[in-house]
Amino acid sequence: MLGAGAGLAAAGLLTACVESRATPADDASAVAARGAGTRIAALSDVPVGGAIAVDVDGHALLLTRPASDEVHLFSSVCTHAGCKVAPADGELDCPCHGSRFALADGAVLGGPAREPLAAIAVTIQGDDVVLA
Ligand code: FES
Repeated sequence: MLGAGAGLAAAGLLTACVESRATPADDASAVAARGAGTRIAALSDVPVGGAIAVDVDGHALLLTRPASDEVHLFSSVCTHAGCKVAPADGELDCPCHGSRFALADGAVLGGPAREPLAAIAVTIQGDDVVLA
């Protein structure tokens, strides 16, 4: 039989794991509703072959640049259990259970996540990355 302490410890683990209550689809639709042309970041702020974290209206997003002329925007909400995915070395990594996602399309590179990150269409406009 587990004592009250074990129950509290388990509750703490669950809280730590589920950082965000937003779903990937919530992030994607809310940000896309800002409309085409909305500036997300300066293109020069995004390293080629890497990614940066950006915030749009409180939505934590990941702006990636797999090639100099290619950018993508994703919800940072992990499709496994909702933790916040972060830029890593040439990919996007979830700190909770180790899922890994691709810069170019948010596809799962390694589980336990099975679904890709939710994408939000962006394009390069002059020196900026904007919603498409
Ligand atoms: S929440 Fe489990 S791998 Fe991201």
